[in-house]
Amino acid sequence: MAVHHLVKRYGDATAVNGISFAVERGDFFGFLGPNGAGKTTTINAIVGLARVDGGRIEVFGRDVSTAWRKARRLIGLAPQEYNFDRYLRVREILFYQAGYYGLRPRDVTTRVDALLERFGLSAKADAFVAQLSGGMKRRLTLARALVHDPQIVILDEPTAGVDVELRLELWETLRALRREGKTIVLTTHYIEEAEALCERIGIIESGRMVALETTEGLLRSHARDELTITLAHPLQAPPPMLAHFSARLDPENACRLRFERLSPLQLSEALALLGREGIDVEAVNTERATLQDVFLALTGRGAR
Ligand SMILES: Nc1ncnc2c1ncn2[C@@H]1O[C@H](COP(=O)(O)OP(=O)(O)O)[C@@H](O)[C@H]1O
Ligand SMILES: [Mg+2]
Repeated sequence: MAVHHLVKRYGDATAVNGISFAVERGDFFGFLGPNGAGKTTTINAIVGLARVDGGRIEVFGRDVSTAWRKARRLIGLAPQEYNFDRYLRVREILFYQAGYYGLRPRDVTTRVDALLERFGLSAKADAFVAQLSGGMKRRLTLARALVHDPQIVILDEPTAGVDVELRLELWETLRALRREGKTIVLTTHYIEEAEALCERIGIIESGRMVALETTEGLLRSHARDELTITLAHPLQAPPPMLAHFSARLDPENACRLRFERLSPLQLSEALALLGREGIDVEAVNTERATLQDVFLALTGRGAR
């Protein structure tokens, strides 16, 4: 899937301002950004729910504006907002969605039952959506996105506002889909969600892509792991023999020596040098850089 210079305006406001990115088959791509950044607008353009003012979108090499029916068949969308027909029962919602793709009920009965089972909705098959819990609605959104067995699954904020337990459960489901060979595109404003799940991440802010890289690459290029050696007694200054490791004394705690990036060999050398000077070491800790650090470095603002 490839998005080229996508532009979408609402009146005078530009919601999406020239975004480009590509998602390879089998990728788990994360589209990360604060509320209002333009994620949903981009997703809606990809699935043909929004007219675009500029740019081009391809799915499996076909332009979606000319081959939207084919493109739609290849994509399953779990939208951000619930949009269920409240007069349909859970099982009917899935059959109805299959019908939208030209699939007949008798051809999808087995699949619908399997999805109900997989998402813990079998007992609610004949219930109306109003009778479902929030978590069940989330799971139904996902089941519905999968009913026509799409190759690409797009999830727009699938865990927004859900409790921790359901979030972890949904994460496991998404990982399983990825293992089954689906290509997954997920939007989120939860940094830790993108970090936990996605192999590649695009960070969007105010309609522009401010970073587009592998998760590892983002962490490597924009944030550093830090290592701390905690001493038994405070120091006045970093020991001179550690100067070539660019050791710094923590300004808030003179027992703490901080280092950026030490190899295991350098660490044992540093510990040996401290031991030789009779400086007692109490603990060694590594703080792994997180995507939060990257996000702050790139956008200069906080998100969750
Ligand atoms: N139908 C609409 N009419 C006018 N403005 C809209 C509409 N939909 C979205 N916007 C605006 O476009 C921007 C991007 O919104 P959206 O794509 O929903 O962001 P996100 O999904 O990242 O939270 C926001 O400023 C939002 O207010
Ligand atoms: Mg959104």
